[in-house]
Amino acid sequence: MNTESPEGRPQADEQGTEQGDAHGVWSEDMELAPVHPGDREPGDTSGDRQGERLQKVLARAGVGSRRVCEDMIAEGRISVNGRQILEQGLRVDPQTDQIAVDGQRLDVRNDRVTYAMNKPFGVVTTMKDDRGRPSVGEMVGDLAAGLVHVGRLDQDTEGLLLLTTDGELAHRLAHPSYEVPKTYLAQVSGSVPRDLGKRLRHGIELDDGPVAVDSFTLKDTHAGQSVVEIVLHEGRKHIVRRLLAEVGLPVSRLTRTAVGPIELARMRSGSLRRLNRTEVGALHELVGL
Ligand code: URA
Repeated sequence: MNTESPEGRPQADEQGTEQGDAHGVWSEDMELAPVHPGDREPGDTSGDRQGERLQKVLARAGVGSRRVCEDMIAEGRISVNGRQILEQGLRVDPQTDQIAVDGQRLDVRNDRVTYAMNKPFGVVTTMKDDRGRPSVGEMVGDLAAGLVHVGRLDQDTEGLLLLTTDGELAHRLAHPSYEVPKTYLAQVSGSVPRDLGKRLRHGIELDDGPVAVDSFTLKDTHAGQSVVEIVLHEGRKHIVRRLLAEVGLPVSRLTRTAVGPIELARMRSGSLRRLNRTEVGALHELVGL
């Protein structure tokens, strides 16, 4: 945002410095998440010093006509980098400024896309499989150049997988230090002890260190099988299967139903949908972008 400072420099928030790994190790999820591919530093408006008028950026993002966007500014519904904007004609940098409508972040850039996929059972999370197995890359085809998957799901795990051309977003969503919550539904064999939620929230020791869940809910029990929902914020390999096996509940079916604020909802197996600007904005906000 150019707030007409004497130097004419934007006042974008300084965020996004590289963070350390909270667990001292990199998750398997990091393998395909490129770091900072060509993204500009926040506030770097080189080549675009004056920025663009806020109402034009909002209109191009589909918020409404320029006139409608001007009215929304006048009504105090728009903020830039956390500051409510009431004056017309403010110049912003869509690459770096954080724009919110009615308090909800909006991704106003047009050069990046993010998709949700309901990955089917049996599909390998890789953009190209040397062994010729069905892969996520094969499923997306040439949908968008530079698309990478955000973290991984096991071949036998179904459910929500995000894919994006935004390298920094992919990096942060997958990195354990950003602690992005992921929700799983697991079908397990055996009956679930009453104190299991408490034990899982407290933490269970695995071969490669302890793991604790953010929440645990018993959803259903029938004929020796139970369905449990687990929310946890890490991405170690096979973490849900290993955790539940450790407490005597082998997993027979595993589905990821949410990543942060993005839900699988009613997506059909194998389908893809492009996330809208509010959803992408919410992901950015979650990881401090
Ligand atoms: N935990 C697992 O065990 N498998 C996955 O695919 C994801 C989390």
